[in-house]
Amino acid sequence: MILIKTSKEIEIMRQAGKILSEVMKKIVPHVHRGVSTLELDKLAEKLIRENGAEPGFKNYESYGRFYPATLCTSINNQVVHALPKKNKILKNGDIIGLDCGVKYKGYYSDMALTVGVGEISFQAKRLIQITKESLEIAIKNIRPEIHLGDISWPIQSFVEKNRLSVVRQLCGHGIGKELHEEPNVFNYGDRGTGLILKPGMVLAIEPMVNEGDWRIETLDDEWTIVTKDGSLSAHFEHTILITKTGAEVLTKIN
Ligand code: MF3
Ligand code: CO
Repeated sequence: MILIKTSKEIEIMRQAGKILSEVMKKIVPHVHRGVSTLELDKLAEKLIRENGAEPGFKNYESYGRFYPATLCTSINNQVVHALPKKNKILKNGDIIGLDCGVKYKGYYSDMALTVGVGEISFQAKRLIQITKESLEIAIKNIRPEIHLGDISWPIQSFVEKNRLSVVRQLCGHGIGKELHEEPNVFNYGDRGTGLILKPGMVLAIEPMVNEGDWRIETLDDEWTIVTKDGSLSAHFEHTILITKTGAEVLTKIN
């Protein structure tokens, strides 16, 4: 069942999104050489709590395991869900995906972005730019009565036109009282297929794009997802509301 949010719920989700985007905006300037991913995590948790919200990922249960942190800090060939660590120190030329969620007054918001550490390669810049643009293109295209595939197809076609690949085994999702609600929002698929979007639906759209092959694998820590071929990967995500005329980005950075 896909939940259509009430105007009261939407107002709370707007506030949750605003808190999250402001927290992210404050974390990004702390991304530089010599910083540990755990320091970023601690900062994110502090900022979230200062805003009267809670970390949305902390203790999130999946297959009987509980996510232990506030952020996912996925570096280079790590696609998503990499755990922040004291001894994981950022170095010049790395790219890092920061994925964060908050829970505010019972509602979740979810967003991710990828940034470079110091000087990064042309290839890395291009990967980040194309991934970001694929999400922007998908969002621009949203109108009520389009199909889910009308979100998926623009992402896949733009990415592949640029000779990069979209991760297939992971997807975006509905979001609200739960971090992950129906429907699944795939980053590949055909136009005009799947569920029809209605005003009041809230979706987290999150393309994960690899420089090489789309295949991924999970590390022994059971969380960290990496590219199978070792190539670089980037990730962007926004929580968006379907409105009467298009989409409202609830996690927009101002
Ligand atoms: N944005 C990611 C997702 O929707 C973050 C989840 S991290 C987890 O899957 F720890 F909560 F799983
Ligand atoms: Co998500």
